[in-house]
Amino acid sequence: MSAPVAWHTFSAALTSPHYQTTQRRVLRQLLEALLFEQVLIAEITPDSHDSVCFDITGRAQDGSSVRYRCCGRISDSFGRIRLNDSLILRISLEGTRPVASLQEFLLEAVAIVDTTEMLLARFLREIQQTLLKDTLAQHARQPDASERDLTALEGQLQDGHPYHPCYKSRIGFDPIDNFAYGPEFQPSVRLVWLALRREYASLAVCPGINLDDFLRQELGAAQHDRFIGKLQSSGLAARDYLLLPVHPWQWREQIAPDLFPLLQRQDIVWLGEGEDEYRPLQSIRSLANYSKPNAAQIKLPIGIVNTSADRILSCHNVENAPPVSDWLCAIRARDSFLLDSGLIFLREVAGITYRDPDLPPFLQAQQYGMLGAVWRESVNGLLSPGESAAPFSGLCQCEADGQPFIASWVERHGLAPWLDALLEATLPPLIHLLYAHGIGMESHAQNIVLIHRQGMPRRIALKDLPGGLRFVRQFLADPELCPRLAPTPSFRKQVNATAGMEAATPTEVRDYFHDAFFFINFGELSLFLRQHYGLAEADFWERIAACIYGYQARYPELASRFACFDLFAPTILVEQLAKRRLFEETEARLQPVSNPLHRYRQQAGKEAA
Ligand SMILES: Nc1ncnc2c1ncn2[C@@H]1O[C@H](COP(=O)(O)OP(=O)(O)OP(=O)(O)O)[C@@H](O)[C@H]1O
Ligand SMILES: [Mg+2]
Repeated sequence: MSAPVAWHTFSAALTSPHYQTTQRRVLRQLLEALLFEQVLIAEITPDSHDSVCFDITGRAQDGSSVRYRCCGRISDSFGRIRLNDSLILRISLEGTRPVASLQEFLLEAVAIVDTTEMLLARFLREIQQTLLKDTLAQHARQPDASERDLTALEGQLQDGHPYHPCYKSRIGFDPIDNFAYGPEFQPSVRLVWLALRREYASLAVCPGINLDDFLRQELGAAQHDRFIGKLQSSGLAARDYLLLPVHPWQWREQIAPDLFPLLQRQDIVWLGEGEDEYRPLQSIRSLANYSKPNAAQIKLPIGIVNTSADRILSCHNVENAPPVSDWLCAIRARDSFLLDSGLIFLREVAGITYRDPDLPPFLQAQQYGMLGAVWRESVNGLLSPGESAAPFSGLCQCEADGQPFIASWVERHGLAPWLDALLEATLPPLIHLLYAHGIGMESHAQNIVLIHRQGMPRRIALKDLPGGLRFVRQFLADPELCPRLAPTPSFRKQVNATAGMEAATPTEVRDYFHDAFFFINFGELSLFLRQHYGLAEADFWERIAACIYGYQARYPELASRFACFDLFAPTILVEQLAKRRLFEETEARLQPVSNPLHRYRQQAGKEAA
């Protein structure tokens, strides 16, 4: 899209009805999170039969008191709050009217919260940028069923994180960047290729992979020769360098402006644009090769903040990616249950990261993770005939025509058989990893690929392996298989207190899994199926409990592990995704929530016995 066309589209989007509908979604999600996390304390009064009204007191700029009123349900799924579609009202001495804007609401409602202006300004910016980026996406959205493979679906299913209020903040992307690199626009992205002098590179590969051969295969011989020829024609020895792709945004914004001394010294050499077209996936920093669908996906650092996390590529995660992939595959290879389940780990087969160990630590911190790449297997080459893949996040989304993405599947197979198949495909391998092996996966929807046959769920593929698991070494089934892991440097730990794969207790591992999988992922599915298919939440959680106990009945010898990683505990701890943005990030902010599985503990226990 040329710049004039992009700016035309930008202004058309802002003056379209999509602005208001998007603002209502962001406001809903913001309120739901702030109420749930008790950043805002509401007076709750009954409304209709299963709905309540929340009244929140705030303070206007002139110091006078204002009240906000919204209505919705406190669900049986962790007590998560789901507001209804009625307008959110602002009630003051001047009268009652709908909220004018996100900014008005946030400034007045949070005026009584003990935060700082700096943190509030940062949060407001993330919220406003989410409004902007999502408005642009909604405005551009069109029904399109021409391509339905996994990569196309990652662009078509546009909702983003269903709980985090800053679900599309992408701080650092201007509107033109958003069109150029946002997955919703299904852009073709050509990567910038560099050569990095080997002494500045830290690299890791899965056994059996030679990085140079691998890159030659990924790039194709002609392109590889072209890049090597470019090095040679500059009088440089190709053997001294590694080829490395960079996201074009990262090249323009961070590598060229900040690492130019390395380019001057030819420790980094600019080779030019790659030939292959890539498509950004939902996580933005992972891209699929559109020109060669079976080639590896590439995950790249982009110095933006999205859903409140910076999206660089931590060096330790890059270094850990191949050994962790290898470890998980070794576990699977020895475990007939996992093999039979058909579980796929999308291996991160190679990783390169730039490091300059001679720099003082404070400068290393500044450059940490800004240049690097991870290559991840594409699921395409791993599917059996008749199988298709879809993003798991699609299960709770509607398409451009307003119909649930799963509508045709549910119609074809029936809701109950479909849901039971989904649970059978998903739960046993994930809880087996937890109970039998002591590994909790961060199984939020974006990290799971659903593999189905004509809509009937069959099995799953897991991705984002080193960044997305937790364990306690002495609780692993086979600690000797666990590789030595590159540690999180101290300066990263301060930024994100929860960073690091090794947890202190099995309960922490359980909570990590429960939070991502049950609280956010299945919690959302429960609310979605109730809304669109009238499925009672109790029915949903009862089926899950039955599925877990069905698994447990197969493994009585693991009884002590079921207690150790207790999925039926009365409460679990979840991360406060909104609250942590309004308070200093000195600690992990966690909140106990009531576990909807708890009420099935007795009943299902008897069934299993
Ligand atoms: N349904 C969803 N649940 C969670 N995250 C989502 C969802 N949809 C989009 N996202 C986005 O995906 C990213 C999830 O973060 P996460 O750290 O799991 O992935 P990543 O490491 O960036 O990439 P990848 O999973 O490709 O390795 C965030 O940028 C988030 O905004
Ligand atoms: Mg992910």
